[in-house]
Amino acid sequence: MSVPTSAGGVPVLILKEGSSRSRGKDAQHTNIMAAKIVAETVKSALGPKGMDKMLVDSFGDVTITSDGRTILDEMDIQHPSAKMMVEVAKTQDNEAGDGTTTAVIISGALLDQAEDLTEKNVHPTIIIDGYKKASDQALKTLEKIAIPVDIHTQGYLKKAAMTSMASKLVSEHREHLAELSVKAVLQVATKEGAKHKADIDDIKVEKKPGESVSDTKLINGIVLDKEIVHSGMPKIVENAKIILLDTALEIEKTEFDAKINIESPEQMDAFLKQEETMLREMVNKITATGANVVLCQKGLDDMVQHFLSRKGIVAVRRIKKSDMEKLAKATGGKIITNLDDMSLADLGSASIVEERKIGDDKMTFVEGCKNARAVTILIRGGTERIVDEAERSLHDALCVVRDIVEEPKVLGGGGAPELEVSRILKKYAETLPGREQLAVRRFAEAMETVPVTLTENAGLDPIDILSELRARHEKGEIWAGIEVHSGKVQDMSQAGVFEPLAVKKQIIKSATEAASMILKIDDVIASGKMKTPPMPPGGPPGGPPAGWAGWVQAPECTKIRQRKV
Ligand SMILES: Nc1ncnc2c1ncn2[C@@H]1O[C@H](COP(=O)(O)OP(=O)(O)OP(=O)(O)O)[C@@H](O)[C@H]1O
Ligand SMILES: [Mg+2]
Repeated sequence: MSVPTSAGGVPVLILKEGSSRSRGKDAQHTNIMAAKIVAETVKSALGPKGMDKMLVDSFGDVTITSDGRTILDEMDIQHPSAKMMVEVAKTQDNEAGDGTTTAVIISGALLDQAEDLTEKNVHPTIIIDGYKKASDQALKTLEKIAIPVDIHTQGYLKKAAMTSMASKLVSEHREHLAELSVKAVLQVATKEGAKHKADIDDIKVEKKPGESVSDTKLINGIVLDKEIVHSGMPKIVENAKIILLDTALEIEKTEFDAKINIESPEQMDAFLKQEETMLREMVNKITATGANVVLCQKGLDDMVQHFLSRKGIVAVRRIKKSDMEKLAKATGGKIITNLDDMSLADLGSASIVEERKIGDDKMTFVEGCKNARAVTILIRGGTERIVDEAERSLHDALCVVRDIVEEPKVLGGGGAPELEVSRILKKYAETLPGREQLAVRRFAEAMETVPVTLTENAGLDPIDILSELRARHEKGEIWAGIEVHSGKVQDMSQAGVFEPLAVKKQIIKSATEAASMILKIDDVIASGKMKTPPMPPGGPPGGPPAGWAGWVQAPECTKIRQRKV
């Protein structure tokens, strides 16, 4: 690139030394390339016959997954437009919870098609306008063909949850996990007018390696990864009346420095007695409510633990705030911040509170809650990696069920809706004038990447399958898709492969927006890299946070990460 000069021939520099700039087709080409590479990377993970990726981070920790978002998150991508594809996966995950791989693949395909058009001198703005029209039309088509479902009486929720897990490492247990997901979501769902709302944050997912994925359980209440504080307390309480405390049962330290001069053993004795009386009073206030379980977000003094155990009251301390909120929803109790201000009505209830040994750890189960609006799924599995992947798969399944509960419409899977959208778009393109028509046609072709990729990943011939799919859709078989286990084109609604409408709509939206955003860029200005000063030996000033033993520098990593040693 030649440097612009002033009239006197002096070069005019507007950017800092070290900055780089690329413009026009160059910039577009590089951006599209980077985004396409990302799409290409996740392609092989799509569908039940897709492959898994093994990701090793700078500490050597291994993740094995086929989840689009996790793959991209772990890849630590640097290129700015490649990062936009990571954003697509993130948005898709946050909005719909499933379909991340598909969103990235479609986005890549849209860019691939657009690149072809720009080479034929179609201006990116025209492509973007065409893509917008096509995406609106695609959304309308999906709405039109979607099957309305009744969330209580039909098995669609379970089938959709099973479809979302068909492509995961834990697919062999998908029926069991799907049943748990449906029960959990329906348990926490609330009715708002004619609609239902479900917040999957009300479903706590705990995991512990050991046993098998088929031993994963739904608990009608909350499981805490904590043990009962005192060995003298009972390990099991039936008909639990629970106090949820957000205040420490300790003598608080004053905020200012205070000094007490104790000059005689009697004074010392009186001082300790006073402390004991204060703690005893706290315990008395608790017993006065009739509670037999104390679940505390903060600390419990040793003496308080002792007094409580003498009265047969069970206590657990330092519970996470988020768990306290779930406990309140599950047990129907109120979180108490002031000991002087509580009554029987504030207590929560559960039919059982019990400490159980799960694997090597002790966990406390608050179980059998009436009308629990928060529940727990306790994931088990042969190894830590399986448990981790089961958690990711369960997340997808829970989101899929939530999506259908909130918007009770489903579509067939196996590329059927994508192919139907593609068919309608090709017809729609014919009604448009000029070059926009080209863009809409290209959008239609990009949609076909989904059935094609599913077919390729199953080791089948995409040309034969695609022609059969096109022909059958032309005959009006809107749910004709590729069933990858049989390797045949089938009616996916009869094969029981369903996906939420919400997931597919979000895929179209995120993929189109990301592709349009990348296409709109014609100038990339990157400032020179900032030189980061080397980290002082022993980590940043101030030392590691409390409870952390030190710092370790990851190899080839500029960030210093903390590890609990
Ligand atoms: N038995 C099946 N036959 C054909 N296709 C199937 C079958 N089961 C699921 N699919 C398809 O697999 C695709 C989903 O694959 P996958 O779960 O790997 O990707 P994703 O949902 O896009 O991304 P992620 O789950 O990583 O967020 C959907 O298009 C779905 O219709
Ligand atoms: Mg999926």
